Amino acid sequence: MEIKKRIIFLIGSLLSIFIVSCNNSRLPEKITFSEHIAPIIYQNCTSCHRTGEAGMFNLLTYQDIASRSKVIKFVTQTRYMPPWPADASYTHFVNEKILNENEIELISRWVDNGCEIGDSAKIPQLPVFPVGSQLGKPDLVIRLRDAYKIKGNGKDQFLLMRVPYQIPIDTFVSVIEVVPDNRKLLHHVNAQLLSYEFDKKKDVFKGNTVVDLEVCPDKLKAYNEIGLANDDDITFPALTQSVTNYLPSVVPPVYPDGIGGFKMVRKGAIFLKDIHYGPSRIDTTDQTSFNVFFAKGPPVRPLQEFQMGTFGVSPIVPALVVAPNTLFTVHSDYTLPSDISILTINPHMHLLGKFFLAYAVTLQHDTIPLIRINKWDFRWQYFYTFEKMLKIPRGAIIHAEGVYDNTRNNPNNPFSPPRLIAERAGSMRTSDEMFQFIVTYLPYQIGDESISLGSKQNKE
Ligand code: HEC
Repeated sequence: MEIKKRIIFLIGSLLSIFIVSCNNSRLPEKITFSEHIAPIIYQNCTSCHRTGEAGMFNLLTYQDIASRSKVIKFVTQTRYMPPWPADASYTHFVNEKILNENEIELISRWVDNGCEIGDSAKIPQLPVFPVGSQLGKPDLVIRLRDAYKIKGNGKDQFLLMRVPYQIPIDTFVSVIEVVPDNRKLLHHVNAQLLSYEFDKKKDVFKGNTVVDLEVCPDKLKAYNEIGLANDDDITFPALTQSVTNYLPSVVPPVYPDGIGGFKMVRKGAIFLKDIHYGPSRIDTTDQTSFNVFFAKGPPVRPLQEFQMGTFGVSPIVPALVVAPNTLFTVHSDYTLPSDISILTINPHMHLLGKFFLAYAVTLQHDTIPLIRINKWDFRWQYFYTFEKMLKIPRGAIIHAEGVYDNTRNNPNNPFSPPRLIAERAGSMRTSDEMFQFIVTYLPYQIGDESISLGSKQNKE
């Protein structure tokens, strides 16, 4: 009797799972904007497609959305939008921006059936988007002293910037948040901190603060031009690892208490080792600021970082020299000297990038997937944070590989006809290439696998 009951229960549960999953994939008879489409667009598109944000047009009203319905169907079916190059069938990350098959199909059918609006009283409220900070009230705000003048020449601009600051005492910080001023044009920022020894730099505010990397592609020269050096002009201040990154609508990762954080010394600068503005047809300005959130004390587990490839712990094989009219594959392998827990990863290539893959292979020949990008998109180079810390054991080999497309078929190819493009001392110029895989990690501790990295930001 007992067993019979259990079997019936089991069949019952299986049946209900089956019914639920069928229901999920079955689309409603009548698809309307108010009931089905508005919620998808508001949740996945509107954060960027509203006035003043990076998306070129608004997706707010029925009119906005219906009038672009065909292209919306296209960009969602091809998964060009929302922009999220990582393949979600390979690995998942915090704050993933992806539509599921059902949502894509709903949009497609709605468009094919003539974009019915439905009961307009049922159109949901627009989401409320945070202003100023996505994380709360900052303890300190550091702003570019002078607005940067963006030339209206219709070209992408890649710069180095030094944002000097002076504070009363050395202070521990948990997060720095980038708050763009020109949200339309600021496309990405990667920042580190310069920590001056108090006596070695009299005036951190003195000197040049911006270098255009197209004009001065040689990194060392650029560092000299931007006045990083101490007053002796020969020695340099300490440079921390990456402290903040920005891409449109990205919330900076806030790790659990005690994990991460760093010290800001009294005299320093936020060093924007790359800052990218999209093309503008008119002269305009940007005066981005940085929200600083203090920590309770020194980090219990400070983050560590290594990079593979360009400037990294492991070389690029073969050397990154991409002949014109070729597809070219490189890889880089790094054997881990100790157990680590990975938090965040960042693959980096330029305009010839076509494909990126990284995984670890343990001594027992188990493969641990890290990231796969089937269609590299230069514009969307996220720092991907795992949902839970990911243990990679000592002795495992991290393998990263990239494919470059230097043919005419690559619409982003900076040259027509294609020319030889190579790695040049980490030059950020779009016409030079890089292959880099940055890994942010902690030395492994028992239990790390169950520490969730997404909980804080998923609360929103
Ligand atoms: C993270 C910000 C962001 C999100 C989220 C986003 N977009 Fe975009 N979208 C952009 C930007 C920026 C562009 C300009 C092209 C580019 O940079 O790739 C764009 C371009 C577009 C285009 C024009 C494509 C073309 O080449 O004509 C369409 C249509 C579009 N988005 C629709 C959507 C839809 C639909 C969603 C949600 C499913 C969405 N976007 C989500 C930022 C975003």
